[in-house]
Amino acid sequence: MAWLVYGAYGYTGRLIAAEALRRGHRPTLAGRAPDRLRRLAAELSLDHIVLDLHDATALAGALGDFDLVFNAAGPDLYTALPAARACLAGGAHYLDLAGAVPVYEQLYALDAAARAKGIALLPGAGFDVAATDCLAKYVADRLPGATALDLAIATTGDVSGGSTKTELEIIAAGPSVRRGGALTPVSFAGGIRRVRFPDGAHTVAPAPWGELVAAHRTTGLPDITMSVAYPDAVVPLLRWAGPAIRGLLRVKALRRGLQALIGKVMDGPGAAARRQARAYVWARASEAGGAAVEAWLETIEAYDFTAAVAVRCVERILAGGYAGALAPGAAFGADFVLDVPGTQRYDALDR
Ligand SMILES: NC(=O)c1ccc[n+]([C@@H]2O[C@H](COP(=O)([O-])OP(=O)(O)OC[C@H]3O[C@@H](n4cnc5c(N)ncnc54)[C@H](OP(=O)(O)O)[C@@H]3O)[C@@H](O)[C@H]2O)c1
Repeated sequence: MAWLVYGAYGYTGRLIAAEALRRGHRPTLAGRAPDRLRRLAAELSLDHIVLDLHDATALAGALGDFDLVFNAAGPDLYTALPAARACLAGGAHYLDLAGAVPVYEQLYALDAAARAKGIALLPGAGFDVAATDCLAKYVADRLPGATALDLAIATTGDVSGGSTKTELEIIAAGPSVRRGGALTPVSFAGGIRRVRFPDGAHTVAPAPWGELVAAHRTTGLPDITMSVAYPDAVVPLLRWAGPAIRGLLRVKALRRGLQALIGKVMDGPGAAARRQARAYVWARASEAGGAAVEAWLETIEAYDFTAAVAVRCVERILAGGYAGALAPGAAFGADFVLDVPGTQRYDALDR
């Protein structure tokens, strides 16, 4: 089976290509910068192809030569829809690392077209949302009368430039939750609280991430809150200056300027730093009457987890039997996440 990693010379694309090689795959590498692509392809002894995401006809023609495309280019708000549409036109399965709510809405809206073509569209084949979505399914399945789902993540270690660029887009959109089935804006400050994780309590705040759409698809629950842990030192700044920061980031030219600067100065964590770091997920399903089921995941560092789970998602989809727009937990089951070495699930915390 022939598959391709788009955005291969980006920080996460490289990790995915390396993990694919470790697991015996030989994906073709793709991206828009010929020199960077050529250097990486020579380093890994893999084929490469230069492709512009914004030339729809050429892209669909080129992607049609592959069974599957993994899009690791971002921010996903700018790359996901053109790449997914080209896959649909060319007849290749499409997977990505999307984090933003509109991307999930756009891709899930292509469900019928993808089913008709017999191809799978799987946004969020990384730590976010594969880990959260599997845990969401786990707690929701254990409480069939649940109406609400609470999800939160905490990670130790650094973030990549690409994730920071995506986060600027997400902050600009403003925090929201799902209530009564609909996305509902909330105040950042009003949602700040402490949540217990396997490594201790963290301060979390609501985040309008793709879980608000993916976990809704997987569990069908009408009320969903997704939160992210922030360092305690950052919380007062976000509490008091959050709306002003968001107001500034809503200016697209400023946001794009900051993203260009981030691209120049920020790289992702090195291998040694990643080995020291961990990532955690908490999920709680609850009934209106008060009954609740909680669970936690503890995993390897978030980018290493992303590379590992991304290639496992590719393997599942290439094994066959998948079509339409998918969420990882519903497609592969709650235990899929446990396939990633170093991942443990807890039903209770003793400390
Ligand atoms: N879901 C998860 O758990 C998860 C985990 C890790 C990363 N991510 C997401 O994955 C994405 C990449 O992260 P990263 O850390 O690898 O970032 P990165 O190092 O900045 O790499 C981004 C890549 O995207 C390419 N790119 C950006 N805009 C493009 C466009 N319009 N057309 C073609 N290529 C484009 C870049 O190519 P150029 O250098 O040529 O611009 C580069 O190869 C981000 O959106 C991030 O949020 C998600």
